[in-house]
Amino acid sequence: MILALETSCDDTCAAVVSPGGEIRSNVVASQGLLHERYGGVVPEIASRRHLELLDSVTSDALERAAVTLHDVDRVAVTRGPGLIGALLVGVSSAKALAAARGLPLVPVDHLHGHVVASTLEPEPIEPPYLCLVASGGHTFLARVDEPSSYRILGQSLDDAAGEAFDKGARLLGLGYPGGPAVDRLARDGDPAAFEFPRSLPGHGLDFSFSGLKTSLLYRLRDLGEGERERRRVDLAASYQRAIVDTLSTRAEQALAGEGLDRLAIGGGVAANSELRRALAERCAHRGVGLWAPPLALCTDNAAMIAAAARHLVALPYPDYLSLDAAARLGPEATRAAA
Ligand code: KG4
Ligand code: ZN
Repeated sequence: MILALETSCDDTCAAVVSPGGEIRSNVVASQGLLHERYGGVVPEIASRRHLELLDSVTSDALERAAVTLHDVDRVAVTRGPGLIGALLVGVSSAKALAAARGLPLVPVDHLHGHVVASTLEPEPIEPPYLCLVASGGHTFLARVDEPSSYRILGQSLDDAAGEAFDKGARLLGLGYPGGPAVDRLARDGDPAAFEFPRSLPGHGLDFSFSGLKTSLLYRLRDLGEGERERRRVDLAASYQRAIVDTLSTRAEQALAGEGLDRLAIGGGVAANSELRRALAERCAHRGVGLWAPPLALCTDNAAMIAAAARHLVALPYPDYLSLDAAARLGPEATRAAA
């Protein structure tokens, strides 16, 4: 049994996963409401809240899985990237849990977790596959040939796709997080009503979303207050369509370029109904299998950290006692653990 902890941002997460990839429990205590009034995550508040919540979230995960610490064979934890104070809470707690019983510990790269979330039961994806991860902090395409590692093919050069949703939502006068609000509003809108740029920088597979938000800002300014209010639904639908088009165009280019016929998606933006619809359509057209896991596996969670840990070599006790959290991870991070 793997007990995994994840505290890289504003969700306090613990999960129990079997070596075969069966999720026994996947508990998430979201701090969303706590940060809502600030319009974004406040790092110091997030760290303190993790400290308050992590013990009970961990107990809850064990209880729901109907196991005790004595049934756990290894502990896994997100080492980075993320908010350093928030990560430290998870890493310290995981080290203490593992050391108390002399268990091995697996430090995991958060992004690796997103990339392999779809390898869990009940419908595990088999490598080789392409993974599109789009969250509030990251947007990238990765190729997976074996679940122990991944290769980034392209990534956002500026804002992440979730950030584009959040910033656009703020300009439209919607709350935080903005993605779900834009998604809901856009359902009744005309996605062709307004023209927004689809930025596909360079000849590779990188993304850029910062121009899009600026373009919305100018459009809103030009419309004036009354018209802005009246066309809000169409603005949301058109803005969302631009993000979705960009993500799905790049995913399709990567599938073709890499000769892959399986696509997995992850990150909070993978919850977007328009993105799911667009990718399902493009994949069906190309004969590509699409793995769009349930929302609980797309947004930050500890089951995906266990998913990565299944394929990594653990550090034996006491080698991990000097292990530190890392706000940024270099490419050597996953290799070091493997
Ligand atoms: O993966 P996640 O929960 O946290 C990290 O950023 O790591 O992703 C959160 C992001 C936010 O930017 C949020 O606005 C976006 O995912 N999001 C959505 C939707 N649900 C969440 N974006 C578009 N449509 C949604 N339905
Ligand atoms: Zn994440």
